[in-house]
Order: sequence, then C-alpha cells, then structure tokens
Amino acid sequence: MTETILVHPDAETLAAASAARLITTLIDLQSIRRPLHLALTGGSIGIALLEQVKVAPARGAVDWSEIHFWWGDERFLPKGDPERNETQARDALLNSLAEVVPPSHIHPIPASDQVDNPAIAAAQYQRDLPHFDLVLLGVGPDGHVASIFPSHPEMDVETLGVVPVEDSPKPPPQRVSLTLPTINDADQVWLIAAGRAKAPAVAAGVGNDLSVPAGRIQASPEKGMLPDQLETSPRRVLWLIDVAAGELLPPAPRG
Ligand code: 6PG
Repeated sequence: MTETILVHPDAETLAAASAARLITTLIDLQSIRRPLHLALTGGSIGIALLEQVKVAPARGAVDWSEIHFWWGDERFLPKGDPERNETQARDALLNSLAEVVPPSHIHPIPASDQVDNPAIAAAQYQRDLPHFDLVLLGVGPDGHVASIFPSHPEMDVETLGVVPVEDSPKPPPQRVSLTLPTINDADQVWLIAAGRAKAPAVAAGVGNDLSVPAGRIQASPEKGMLPDQLETSPRRVLWLIDVAAGELLPPAPRG
C-alpha cells in the first residue's frame, strides 16, 4: 500500500488538477475492468472537483456509461434538498452526463422523505454496496471523513458497511455514512483538502493519528490479487491538498 501526498498552489488549482487526475485515472482503470464503482464526497472542494470534471476538455475520454456513482456519506434530508450531497453532485456534474449515465448507475443514499430514519437508509444502502474502485473523501477541520467524526462511536464500527449518524457535529445532525472498513476496502482512497483550517487535520491524517478518522484511512489490496494485477491497479491512499492545508506537514524530502 502506498501513500502519496500531492500539493497544489491553491484550492482552485487543486480542484482542477484533481479533476484531471480523476479523468485519467478512470480512463486507465477502464482499460483494465468495467464497470467501475466510484464514491463521491460532499463538501466544498469535493463538489468543486466535480464542477471541474464537468468543464474538463478530456471528460469525453471516460466512458461514463460504465461508471457507477455512489456516495461516501449523505445528509439525511428530503430528496432534492440543496444541502444534500446528491443534489450538489447532480448539479455539479451528473446532470450534464444524463445522456450517457443510466439512472440505474447513480446510487443515492435514501432521503428523509423516502425512509423513516437514517438507520433504515443505512441498512438499505448497505444491501447493494459494491467493492469500490475509488472513494473520494473531503476532510473536515476535526479530521472527519465522510460522516465519521472523531470520538464518535461510528469510528470503531467494524462489522457494518454503512452506519446511521444521529449527532453529527457538522449540520445537519442526521446523516448516513460508509464506515472506515468499507472505505479502507477500496482499491484507492483520495482525501482532498484545501485551506489553512485543514492543516491540523491533514497533519494528523498523513501522520496516521488514529484519534482522527482521516488518520485511519488505508487502502487495501483486493484479496487474492496477483502481483502483476496489483501493479496494474495499485492500491493507494492519495492526499490531494493545497499549500495552505499542508503547512503543518514536514518538508518533503529533496533528492
Ligand atoms: C459532508 C461531507 C464532509 C465534507 C467535509 C469537508 O457531507 O459535509 O461529506 O465529509 O467532505 O466536511 O467539507 P469541506 O470541503 O466543505 O470543508
């Protein structure tokens, strides 16, 4: 398992460069297998990345009809609520792909006007959960990822793939989230963070501080993969940050 940290000058460049990286990664992975399962993230930089994919000249090189879109977490709100991660992802990118992405390839987490509570939403989402080729994660200033927050019981859940959250410190309080084991089972996990406020969380995460969820992220090789298969589809954790979010990291070694 390899962990890489890529630092970009500012948030705008980070979003654009990460969008380009996502496009080329999907192209590379599609040359190996199809369909692909991608988990999107909410949050400002995660949505900005999708907006950059939408306007990227190379976006047409991805066969979007063979991508399944999932979410790492969701705010338990009514369908179409502007604060839902699904709504923001549809507005930022998915609506522009409506001609090519079959509706059945978009897998939103159930909304609060579709099921009675987050526990039911989590149980339903877990039913169809795939093995993820790539999970995108924003990072909170407290080191949360998806809707797994420090010192919250969901951090230690090992036996479930998806959990309800009733007391999120980040509004809204009710959410649904992939668990850390599910995230860590992905072939690749990309954590994306911008801004000085994220510097402590990035330092803790990169430093594998287990007291914060971001510090517990590790991608794991698929069971039974042959060495050459691992080479063609590397398992890895990628930190995509801007200079401000990386200001507490030790200086990168210079050759
Ligand atoms: C959410 C997100 C959450 C987000 C982080 C970072 O539902 O809010 O999934 O995990 O990615 O809080 O958000 P920002 O990039 O806006 O700081």
